[in-house]
Amino acid sequence: MDESTRKAAKRRASERAVEAVTDGDMVGLGSGSTAEHAIRLLGDKVEDGLDIVGVPTSFQAREVATDVGIELTTLEETAGRLDVAIDGADQFAGGDLIKGGGAAHAREKIVDSAAQELVIVVDPTKRADVLDAAVPVEILPDARRTAADAIRALDGEPTLRRAKHKSGPVVTDNGNLVFDCDFGELTDPATLASALSELPGVVEHGLFLDLADVVYLGTETGVERIEP
Ligand code: A5P
Repeated sequence: MDESTRKAAKRRASERAVEAVTDGDMVGLGSGSTAEHAIRLLGDKVEDGLDIVGVPTSFQAREVATDVGIELTTLEETAGRLDVAIDGADQFAGGDLIKGGGAAHAREKIVDSAAQELVIVVDPTKRADVLDAAVPVEILPDARRTAADAIRALDGEPTLRRAKHKSGPVVTDNGNLVFDCDFGELTDPATLASALSELPGVVEHGLFLDLADVVYLGTETGVERIEP
C-alpha cells in the first residue's frame, strides 16, 4: 500500500470514528498520524458548532487540538471519566493492541482507559492474526540497565529507542526512556503484560489488552468495523 493510499485509509477510518462523538462529550484525543486525522475532523465539527472538551494523550495531540480550536481539559477536571476516546495503534489482533510507536503509550493508556468507549483507528498495515510487533516499554532512566536485564529474562530483546533528529535516546513527554522489546509472536499477551507491569522502573508498556470497544479499519475503498 503506497503512502497516499494509506493516508486516505487513515482518514476514512477517522471519519467513521468521529461519528461516535456527540454534543457535550468529553473526548480523549489520541496520538499518532491516524489520530491526528480524527482530531482535525473534530476541529472541523467544533467550528460547525459541536460542543466538546478534549483531553490530549501527548504533547502532539495537545498541539493539534489547539491548532484546530478544540477546548482542552484534564482528567482532574472530568473527575477521571471521559465519554469516548479515539486513538491509533501500531498493531492489532482482535481487540488487543500494541501501542507506543510515538512513545505516548503511558498517557494514552491513562486516557483511553478512562473512556466509556475506546474507538481505535487504523489502516490495513496494522492488522495481524497474532501480535508480533516489538512492544514499547517506557522506563525510568535509572532502570535502563536493570529493566533491560529483566526484559531479557522474560525472553525479550530490548532495544533502546534512538531519536532521529537529536543525539541520543528518545525522551518521552514524561522524561523517560523507551525500549522496543522483541518477544516474537505473543501467544500469551496477558501474562507478558502482567510480567512487564511488575518490573521495577517500568512506567508503562504498550500492550493494550481488552480495552478497545471498536476498531475502524480504513481500507482502499471503505471502512471495516471490527467489534472485538
Ligand atoms: C503513539 O505512542 C502510538 O501509540 C500511536 O497511537 C500509534 O503509534 C499509531 O500511530 P500512527 O497512527 O501514526 O500509525
